[in-house]
Amino acid sequence: MKITIRLIVSLLLVVALVAVFFSFYQVRAEKIRLTGELERRAIVLAESLRESVIPLLQSNAFPKLNRLVQRFGNRERLKGFAVLDRQGNIIASTPELKPHIPQPLPQAVSAIAENRPIDGFLTIEGRKTYVFTLPLSAEDTLIGSLALFNDASYIDIRLEGIWTNTILRFLIMALFIAVITLLTVKWSITGPIARFAEWMRELRTGKSKVGQPVSAVRGDVLAPLISEAAQLAKSLAVARARAEEEARLRLQAESLWTANGLKEHMNAELGARKLFLISNREPYMHIKDGRTVKCIAPAGGLVTALDPVMRICDGVWIAHGSGEADREAADAGGKLRVPPEDPSYTLKRVWLIKEEEEGYYYGFSNEGLWPLCHITHTRPVFRLEDWVYYQKVNEKFAGALLEEISGEESPLVLIQDYQLALLPLLVKEKRPDAKVALFWHIPWPNPEAYGICPWHQEILLGMLGADIIGFHIQFHCNNFLDTVDRFLESKIDWEQFSVNRGGHTTLVKPFPISVSFEDASAHALTRPERAALRENILREIDVHADYLGVGVDRIDYTKGIVERFRAIERFLEKYPEFVGKFTFVELGAPSRTHIKRYRELAAEVEETVDRISWKFQDKGWRPIVFLKAHHGHEEINRFYRASDICMVTSLHDGMNLVAKEFVVTRDDEDGALILSQFTGASRELRDAIIINPYDVEEMADAIYLSLTMEPSERAERMKRMRSVVREHNVYRWAGNLITALARLRPSDIANEKRG
Ligand code: F6P
Repeated sequence: MKITIRLIVSLLLVVALVAVFFSFYQVRAEKIRLTGELERRAIVLAESLRESVIPLLQSNAFPKLNRLVQRFGNRERLKGFAVLDRQGNIIASTPELKPHIPQPLPQAVSAIAENRPIDGFLTIEGRKTYVFTLPLSAEDTLIGSLALFNDASYIDIRLEGIWTNTILRFLIMALFIAVITLLTVKWSITGPIARFAEWMRELRTGKSKVGQPVSAVRGDVLAPLISEAAQLAKSLAVARARAEEEARLRLQAESLWTANGLKEHMNAELGARKLFLISNREPYMHIKDGRTVKCIAPAGGLVTALDPVMRICDGVWIAHGSGEADREAADAGGKLRVPPEDPSYTLKRVWLIKEEEEGYYYGFSNEGLWPLCHITHTRPVFRLEDWVYYQKVNEKFAGALLEEISGEESPLVLIQDYQLALLPLLVKEKRPDAKVALFWHIPWPNPEAYGICPWHQEILLGMLGADIIGFHIQFHCNNFLDTVDRFLESKIDWEQFSVNRGGHTTLVKPFPISVSFEDASAHALTRPERAALRENILREIDVHADYLGVGVDRIDYTKGIVERFRAIERFLEKYPEFVGKFTFVELGAPSRTHIKRYRELAAEVEETVDRISWKFQDKGWRPIVFLKAHHGHEEINRFYRASDICMVTSLHDGMNLVAKEFVVTRDDEDGALILSQFTGASRELRDAIIINPYDVEEMADAIYLSLTMEPSERAERMKRMRSVVREHNVYRWAGNLITALARLRPSDIANEKRG
């Protein structure tokens, strides 16, 4: 209110000043005009009287003079006139005036003295009177003067009228100004501020939702503030939801998820229902090894994480049959029970022709979407023919899935990863009752980066067919929601983290994937066993070394393998006491070698190893041993257990399960993990030595630190990391995701308005 009063008072002061200023000038001009008018009239009359008065005065004909004077009394504004002698005393005058005319009349004295007409004002009977005196002369001799008296009281009345009008006008204006100011301030400032404050209060107390009331707050003045506050509120909601999620996870963490626990939980949640999992990569691949057929588990986090879950839940895993001996190992419908040593679930293989694999897998998925989602400065390539195959193969997968779920009521479908982004919508269009989750194993970029893809809208629409979209971390969820916000007409709920489009809601939540903690810890090694293991490994790779490091990757440019080797080179330069003592073993699985960029990378990795080896190599010692091959889990675990350090230096990675697998195998609570800050795992494994893989110096120092760290500190760190992975294992991940999906209500998965 104070500001309104201050504003009104200031406005009124200015208006009053302007009004006084202009009225003052108007009054002055009016006064001059009216006085001039009086003077002109007086001059005319005085001139005409002079002719009659002078002869009478010369001849001292006073009776005649008196008669003349009497005739001119009280005519309209003329009150009368007088003839005066040279001293200004009255000779003849209108009788009513005579007693009121001062003698000598000062104007008459001046007129005689100056020999010119003189005028002025007198007050006669309380009224303002205009006096005009004209000197009279005969034969060049002044003989007296003539004075006319006019009533001038009307001039003051007129001038007062002007002032009265000014005041009246000012008062009316003041009233309008006050009312308008009051309304404007209320409408545009105080009102919106009050509503805005109320909105913020409701947000704070959780009564309203972030996206809702901003539009209800009007007022252009507040527009920038509202937009900033809306952003702030959004961040607040994100932080609040994250805190709630963390609290929820903490509570859950108090109960440990195990394979058996998940099994019981699934029985309770699913009953007789089966789980349908669908991914591009199959969990078991049959390949030819000479004349025999071998079954291998392909490299990559997806298989590592999901195979233990499917072993427990049973159900059907649908995937591309990409092994050269896959057809031989499956039945006519492409099905077989896996794993071979303990059949627990069904693998259904989808067959693709060469062109489909080329366009859908190598082309659109791995030359387009893969570099699009990973910020590693490898340019994505989008070709129309690849996109056509991508759609076609997604339809093919959809067909295979729909066939499998045809007899199931409200089936639970878990779709995996970026190769199958269109599948959720394709499935939901045919089976709206299906509960569909899409889990995205790789990062989700910001809207600008994502917008590069020419089919960005189609992909989002395909994904939003899902009831739940899972990412590893909240940051990727936020990026995804920002992307939807940017490219699609939809309603985003930043508290629930959901997208509503055409009546269908998709929850977007983080489900940090993990590994099983159980198998590895069941085979704990004793200290002498571990020493023997290391000896064996060193013998196998033909190296003498005191310290061993390990890296396990698909050979992919996102993994920062070359950067890691440069850091090892720098470490040996900086800390030469480790030359001849530290050897790093890289277990690199060839991957996507059909793509040029991957072939170039493989060559670059080999060249880097050769160059560094040549630089430092000594008899019986090598700095880097690059074992380029597909390595089974058992083999990899041996290296994990025998090593002092494990290096994960991804330039960008959704989660990275190598980091977690290393931790799981270290039941001796020894070994240090060097972990890239650009992995999802770095959010959980805070006791790793976190590095920026682009910073070679930092990585070199991290290797030194990890090898020279006090054993007690290394043990403490490993203990804490193990407890994180033990609690946040893959059974918890599956339990959370499947529970969230199973518990969706029919109204949550409604899609009747889907366009
Ligand atoms: O990390 C993304 C991902 O697709 C995983 O899902 C999988 O483990 C890995 O890449 C392997 O990729 P590909 O199936 O192309 O060999």
